[in-house]
Amino acid sequence: MPKIQWDPSFSVQVPEIDEQHKEWIAIINGLHDVLMNGVVSSETVHTQLTRMLEYVRYHFTFEEQYMQSIDYPLLEDHKEEHRAFLLELENVIDTERQGKIMLPSEVMQMLVHWLKNHILSADKKYMLPSD
Ligand SMILES: [Fe+2]
Ligand SMILES: [Fe+2]
Repeated sequence: MPKIQWDPSFSVQVPEIDEQHKEWIAIINGLHDVLMNGVVSSETVHTQLTRMLEYVRYHFTFEEQYMQSIDYPLLEDHKEEHRAFLLELENVIDTERQGKIMLPSEVMQMLVHWLKNHILSADKKYMLPSD
């Protein structure tokens, strides 16, 4: 499975948020490397997933505060999308903790798909019109 790469079409024109999206992509790609390496311990996978959860929580909080600061009208809908993803990620972590089998490609696909889709459809909506 190919890694995900940030490209300018992902930009929301807020440099700090673009940097955070790049960092999140780097974490996803780090997890990709871990998952694709067949001999890795579940402890390593758990550490990577937990690190991602922490970073995503930090990013969502930052982004929500930014949206609030610009009086973004769809803030509540956007927060709901964030909450749903956190739940999904927490479920992945629980499943993995219980030692149940997860297909690495399915986990990666979920993460990559959600991130791309969310940036391109939800995050880009709070972009201020450029002048
Ligand atoms: Fe978002
Ligand atoms: Fe975002």
